[in-house]
Amino acid sequence: MSENGNSPVGAGGSSPSAGPAVPTLPLAPRNDGPQPGGSSFHEMWRELRPIGRHPDSGGYRRYAWTGADLECRDWFEEQARARGLAYEVDRNGNQWAWLGDPAAGDAVVTGSHLDSVPDGGAFDGPLGVVSSFAALDELRARGTDLARPLAVVNFGDEEGARFGLACVGSRLTAGALTTEQAHRLTDADGTSLPRAMEAAGYDPEALGADPERLARIGAFVELHVEQGRALDLTGDPVGIASAIWPHGRWRFDFRGEANHAGTTRLADRHDPMLPYAETVLAARREAGHTGAVATFGKIAVEPNGVNAIPSLVRGWLDSRAEDQTALDTVVGGIEKAARAHADAHGVGLDVVRESFTPVVEFDHGLRDELARILGKDTGITVPVLGTGAGHDAGILSGRIPTAMLFVRNPTGVSHSPAEFAAEDDCVAGVLALADVLEGLARR
Ligand code: GLV
Ligand code: MN
Ligand code: MN
Repeated sequence: MSENGNSPVGAGGSSPSAGPAVPTLPLAPRNDGPQPGGSSFHEMWRELRPIGRHPDSGGYRRYAWTGADLECRDWFEEQARARGLAYEVDRNGNQWAWLGDPAAGDAVVTGSHLDSVPDGGAFDGPLGVVSSFAALDELRARGTDLARPLAVVNFGDEEGARFGLACVGSRLTAGALTTEQAHRLTDADGTSLPRAMEAAGYDPEALGADPERLARIGAFVELHVEQGRALDLTGDPVGIASAIWPHGRWRFDFRGEANHAGTTRLADRHDPMLPYAETVLAARREAGHTGAVATFGKIAVEPNGVNAIPSLVRGWLDSRAEDQTALDTVVGGIEKAARAHADAHGVGLDVVRESFTPVVEFDHGLRDELARILGKDTGITVPVLGTGAGHDAGILSGRIPTAMLFVRNPTGVSHSPAEFAAEDDCVAGVLALADVLEGLARR
């Protein structure tokens, strides 16, 4: 049983305080000898690769609390136990693997997520989790003497692909999503988050803010594949995050009148597809004017018949900008255009903001410390980059000092099966993360 009462049925989740003996510092080499992070990375990567990969698209479909996600979670638990780390699941379903006693406080935590967007790439999330275990292996191989507890975490439902809200696990933990709000989330089939968690063996009644847990963490460092080409352009394998753009998701419901596609005169139609289409074009225009981005990437149509004028077109807007003013301008402009087009077609419109994350400026002290650690022996200046992508580290940054490392992505493609990072760069990421953990936690 985990300390907050959320334990996977039959998984034997253990609390660091009440469960099996917590490993003592320094890291004890395993019987078969310490395996450096670079080599353990490849082995773990191979194991994780087939899970949830669609044979046709080659993309990953690891949606929260589905079979593929649960297989990934089993893999996480196996990695923790194989290393003699104390494994636990917190009240929000996030998985933790502890080295040292979490109750000692001032822990250094690293990790990311294992779920994916629809047909996502292999790296977004898993690169951070696999690199975290590999970095611990690297420290073991170095025989590092640690003064602070370390943990690897897998945050649940980061992408929000199933229930529509990103970073559910970290939002709940940080108190940025209430239990009641979480209980109201449903997927496209009408299954609620509580029922999905229950079916996966977790207790949805345990969901809620976890300030005691956060109070024990002195720093959270998330390694992530870069989702743009900045590092490719600077020629560096690894960078440090500066900030995350403010971003959100808005649902646009255009309500018209279902009717026969063959017999209804054009003049008599109230077709919601038309203002929706105009709104998509307006989003592109508005984003172009403000230097922001705006994307309608998901749509639901009712009744969704080839020979029926739709009664409802529901489109989801994802928009992000460098600052709040630009984001307000672009979303305001899109909504205004949508209303005008809906009126012109005699169609109703509701716009609902489903989620929002304000600008994140990562902790300057921690960021500078990472830069100092990574440049110490080499004198290299590691690039510091902003990003338009959301992360659990961004959610937690309002509560605890957080930082991020990015690993070069030569094409910048992400949220696609084409997402990529070269093996050498992945290993460079592992070693950079190991240096950071060592620099922050060494005795
Ligand atoms: C998560 O990857 C997001 O930026 O939406
Ligand atoms: Mn993502
Ligand atoms: Mn991610």
